[in-house]
Amino acid sequence: MNNYPYVITVSSEKGGVGKTTLATNLAVYLKALREELPVAIFSFDNHFTVDKMFGFPGQPLTGSVEDLLTGVPLKELLHIGQFGVEYIPSSGHLNDLKGGIRSAMLLARLFAQSELSGVLIVDTRPELDILTQNALYAADRVIIPIKDMPSMENCKNIFDLFEQKGMNRKSLSLIPCLIDSRVKFDGLFKDQKSLLKGYAVNRGFRCYDNFIPKSPKVDSLNTNPDGRVYPILTNARGTEVHTQFAQFARTVMVEYLDTTEPRSLLYQQWLLTEDRRKRDEFEMRLSGLKSHCLLCGESFSREGAVSRAFYFEASDGGACGHLDERCFVGLLLSTIHNLDQEFSDDDPTWTMFKNATSDALYALSPQDNGSEKSIDIYRFSLNGELLTRKSYPLRAQPEEPLNREANRLHSLVLETLADQEGVLRDAFLFIHPVNAEKPEAILAEEQYRRFNRLKQLVAEQLADHE
Ligand SMILES: Nc1ncnc2c1ncn2[C@@H]1O[C@H](COP(=O)(O)OP(=O)(O)OP(=O)(O)O)[C@@H](O)[C@H]1O
Ligand SMILES: [Mg+2]
Repeated sequence: MNNYPYVITVSSEKGGVGKTTLATNLAVYLKALREELPVAIFSFDNHFTVDKMFGFPGQPLTGSVEDLLTGVPLKELLHIGQFGVEYIPSSGHLNDLKGGIRSAMLLARLFAQSELSGVLIVDTRPELDILTQNALYAADRVIIPIKDMPSMENCKNIFDLFEQKGMNRKSLSLIPCLIDSRVKFDGLFKDQKSLLKGYAVNRGFRCYDNFIPKSPKVDSLNTNPDGRVYPILTNARGTEVHTQFAQFARTVMVEYLDTTEPRSLLYQQWLLTEDRRKRDEFEMRLSGLKSHCLLCGESFSREGAVSRAFYFEASDGGACGHLDERCFVGLLLSTIHNLDQEFSDDDPTWTMFKNATSDALYALSPQDNGSEKSIDIYRFSLNGELLTRKSYPLRAQPEEPLNREANRLHSLVLETLADQEGVLRDAFLFIHPVNAEKPEAILAEEQYRRFNRLKQLVAEQLADHE
């Protein structure tokens, strides 16, 4: 299991149920059970309990959980802590950062690429925000402390979240915490712990056999003149909490040892497969591109001869390629504006049309009513909003040999939208401006997905007009 951490997330939407106490002490107990096992911890809490328990007095700190979320490699942020536990210093600024985190799989990716081994414990805040969701989805084991009925009812939200995401709910386990052993009931459930467990099992929630009793001794470990937080293992031996924690840690250790393929490993494998798939798909799209500009016939392999400023694709995928900037802007100028003249590169009219052309999307949709062929030219905003639509005659070469642009338009349509017999398919040509420095970038995963969404949006609007 080298170099892929086994991740334990401690989570509950309810505040003050003992999450941080459980996460930090579990780290100490696991380390005590197996000295050679690397155990690391960090918390999204802003109580700095992790720092107060594991930090050495005067220890210089570099980085924090905040840096982890902004891309600093996890290993660089780990600090050697007390009791042999490594920790990432906590941060009080996570609220400011949270809004910028879009992916719920960010932590899963960071853990997969962390090259960390052993156990990594993540303590979360009492809310199901994007940080907690990240910690939940990255975990091999989610431990949910429950201290009363409301906190147990509340954990349904975590189960629902897993259900929605299609994730295995078997990784979720409840543990009764802060149990007052003095409280006794008559009847089937004799105490708080059996009552909570009974209800949990009844709702289909998996529950650990252990529980964490409420103990004034534990509470006192947080409050002392040193401003430190002391572990139960070192400072509350001989208590029931210690016995329960020791047993609980053994159960968790067995779960860890039984896991041959942690999620971080599986996620890394998935990421690699995804990368390969994206690369293959990109290569395939590249190989389908026309090697020359369909308007002027100039080959794209001739450096500097043409500027690939537009990408076109037939709506049925039948043809795709780039168009030279001069060719396409010139084509629109002559077709739409009847300006059939040559402009120099620095001519202001040319510059204006060039900028306007690359600020829009185009759909070329040939029409054939039997007696006359025409082409509808649609212009859309870069977000796919229809701006203009106009119909122009579409004539074949022999009828108008002198109108160069009309012929170019005709041959572009034939080359992209006609079948082998020269019959037009039921399709349109979608044209999108691209960065001439990186004309192929539009075919890469994210950008191509956006291109396709726009193509779809445009297709729906064209269908409405028919
Ligand atoms: N077994 C216990 N016995 C007595 N007191 C406990 C026990 N476990 C935790 N506490 C106390 O309960 C309070 C809440 O515990 P803790 O901070 O671990 O909860 P939390 O769920 O992390 O809270 P938050 O949701 O605010 O992050 C603390 O004052 C802690 O000292
Ligand atoms: Mg906490």
